[in-house]
Amino acid sequence: MSEAVMQLKNVSKTIGKKEIIKGLDFNIYSGEVFGFLGPNGAGKTTTIRMMVGLMKMSDGDIIIKGHSVNEDFKQAICHVGGIVENPEMYPFMSGWKNLVHYSRMMPDITKERIHEVVQLVGLENRIKEKAGKYSLGMRQRLGIAQALLHKPSVLILDEPTNGLDPSGIREIRAYIRKLASEEGVAVIVSSHILSEMEMMCDRIGIIKSGELISIQTVQDALQETEEKEVSIEAVPVDVTMTALKDITGKSVTREQDILTFAVEREKIPGVVSKLVHKGVHIYSINVNRSTLEDKFLDLIGEGSIE
Ligand SMILES: Nc1ncnc2c1ncn2[C@@H]1O[C@H](COP(=O)(O)OP(=O)(O)OP(=O)(O)O)[C@@H](O)[C@H]1O
Ligand SMILES: [Mg+2]
Repeated sequence: MSEAVMQLKNVSKTIGKKEIIKGLDFNIYSGEVFGFLGPNGAGKTTTIRMMVGLMKMSDGDIIIKGHSVNEDFKQAICHVGGIVENPEMYPFMSGWKNLVHYSRMMPDITKERIHEVVQLVGLENRIKEKAGKYSLGMRQRLGIAQALLHKPSVLILDEPTNGLDPSGIREIRAYIRKLASEEGVAVIVSSHILSEMEMMCDRIGIIKSGELISIQTVQDALQETEEKEVSIEAVPVDVTMTALKDITGKSVTREQDILTFAVEREKIPGVVSKLVHKGVHIYSINVNRSTLEDKFLDLIGEGSIE
């Protein structure tokens, strides 16, 4: 495993009497895209605010490149780049001027570096235009360029695809992946959309009510869930039930005349033809949600905001 660039050590946050973040404890490694997934109000933005130093922790610590945020704030935070709310920009200045202006607030940022980040986010053709005329996606890119100027080891983006169209989302996904693989940056992105996270991230941590309830690689998560839940309406029901148990080697549940079982997608045609072969009459067959979605919804609870 590569170097842990950021370590959360029992990070907690209490505001008033409410414990909003409860003992978060995990590492982020260089070159990985880490997805912070959770429903509205789960605590993603609050955690990110602590990671980028915009908010103090109530308990615990965050270690960035070996430096404690609590004890060595400057040394720790200089390795982090982030966009939490909308990036601050001057609409009357060009994208380029905005970056130059911003770079003056940091030590040792060369013109070459500014060119480099502009290229990295693919804004080279529009960088001379006024930022006020940028689309949302272009503003996002300029924000990321700005966050990358000082070559951070960790880039943190709170809901980077919010408000973008599908092609904008695809593009942002591509350059986040590029940043991680080519620049070795650890990228942390938050979202409440599972499918988006699956495509962008190497690992996903699920947060609910301020607690980390699951953390795993996307590869593992997808492998676990190759099986689909399938519902079938067929007669005779008893014969179908027995046949399905034989074919799948697993349990089959029955609700009235609908039988539900789990099987990998590739095996569905085989199951159907075996049933037909046994003289079963099939009236309908449906593939339900993938079990990963099920698991995610089970974990976070459907639709409720706390
Ligand atoms: N300054 C504050 N004072 C009191 N409560 C707060 C404050 N900031 C956040 N909270 C509460 O903390 C919880 C977590 O909020 P947070 O913004 O971190 O969630 P989130 O996961 O980013 O949600 P979303 O997906 O809606 O952006 C919420 O219940 C919110 O009301
Ligand atoms: Mg948020």
